[in-house]
Amino acid sequence: MSDTQIVPVELGEDRYEICIGSGLLNQLGTRLKLLLAPERVTVITDQNVSRLYARRVVDSLEAAGIGCKTLTIPPGEASKSWEMAKRLYDGLAERRHTRTHPIIALGGGVVGDLAGFVAATWMRGVPVVQCPTSLEAAIDAAVGGKTAINHEAGKNLIGAFHQPRAVICDVDCLQTLDARHFRAALAESIKHAVIRDPAFLDWQEAHLDGVLALEQGTVTSLIARNCEIKASVVADDEREVLTGPPRRAALNFGHTFGHAFETLPGIGLLHGEAVALGMVAELDLAVRHLKFPEADRDRIESLLRRLQPTVKYDLAAASDAVFEKIRLDKKVISGVRFAIPDRIGQTVWFEPAPRIR
Ligand SMILES: NC(=O)c1ccc[n+]([C@@H]2O[C@H](COP(=O)([O-])OP(=O)(O)OC[C@H]3O[C@@H](n4cnc5c(N)ncnc54)[C@H](O)[C@@H]3O)[C@@H](O)[C@H]2O)c1
Ligand SMILES: [Zn+2]
Repeated sequence: MSDTQIVPVELGEDRYEICIGSGLLNQLGTRLKLLLAPERVTVITDQNVSRLYARRVVDSLEAAGIGCKTLTIPPGEASKSWEMAKRLYDGLAERRHTRTHPIIALGGGVVGDLAGFVAATWMRGVPVVQCPTSLEAAIDAAVGGKTAINHEAGKNLIGAFHQPRAVICDVDCLQTLDARHFRAALAESIKHAVIRDPAFLDWQEAHLDGVLALEQGTVTSLIARNCEIKASVVADDEREVLTGPPRRAALNFGHTFGHAFETLPGIGLLHGEAVALGMVAELDLAVRHLKFPEADRDRIESLLRRLQPTVKYDLAAASDAVFEKIRLDKKVISGVRFAIPDRIGQTVWFEPAPRIR
């Protein structure tokens, strides 16, 4: 317990805490009892995570006298769909899940987003507790209250803001996450440092080997610092107000290009890998148009290369197809505008002239 770190998310009445540490899934029942004292809960998870961790969670809940049922979805982004949400609503209806019964989202970002969305909408909103098991979920998806499913017109187009009542992150789960997903998620950690915290960039350069070796204390500190940064951005601008300087929108750094790389056919990048490429492409804009120091761009790029040596960074010298895709995507949904850093730790809006280059 002693090395558990607590990060508060200060949102007034919606304030909650993120607990990060080892062995926390075993304590889920007792922690939940103190926090919400539920009579029963529904656990939503995916097949991979269920195989590894559902038993631990169910045992912990039952030992605390909390009844529980588990709904399991197939793993993967395709599950963030209307059809899967409907299946979960059917499951909740069948077991008469009422407004006083929390939903426990146990899994990566797919489970977190989908279960969060279902929790936001079932009976106009039931409590959700996020238990992230992937690094992407621990440092990003589980924190901040954005929930979503995908529409054929684009990712995350249907969603709601619904803050969790708690985030409980058991770092032991990361032992079973495959290395590629783990490394990909670290791109989001570098993003947090670049938009908010120069000292954290130094820290990551110094501690990357310990993080990659899954040293428990180092990984706990990494997740905690990411959660602090995301929590402070979210507390400052919960609903991503798009007037004034970029605040929550700064979290989209690397993502405008990143989404284009992610969806270009034939490349097959994970989200974090695409975001790494997206950051390189957007830093190039920052160097050319905002006087972002070239030496800092090179430093960030070499840290990303240490993480993902096989990602082809020359792709980020992006092709016309990528620019075209961004233009098309954004014309439908919103204007093309980038939140990019003009120096490490500070982000500004950049609105390119009609042609981006
Ligand atoms: N809401 C937000 O603010 C936000 C932020 C970032 C990302 N996201 C969303 O998160 C999703 C990506 O999250 P992700 O990368 O976690 O993907 P994911 O949920 O698909 O998980 C990746 C894979 O790892 C498996 N897995 C998860 N935890 C594991 C563990 N401990 N051991 C072994 N296998 C494990 C999963 O079953 C899956 O196969 C995307 O849909 C993205 O849009 C949301
Ligand atoms: Zn992301």
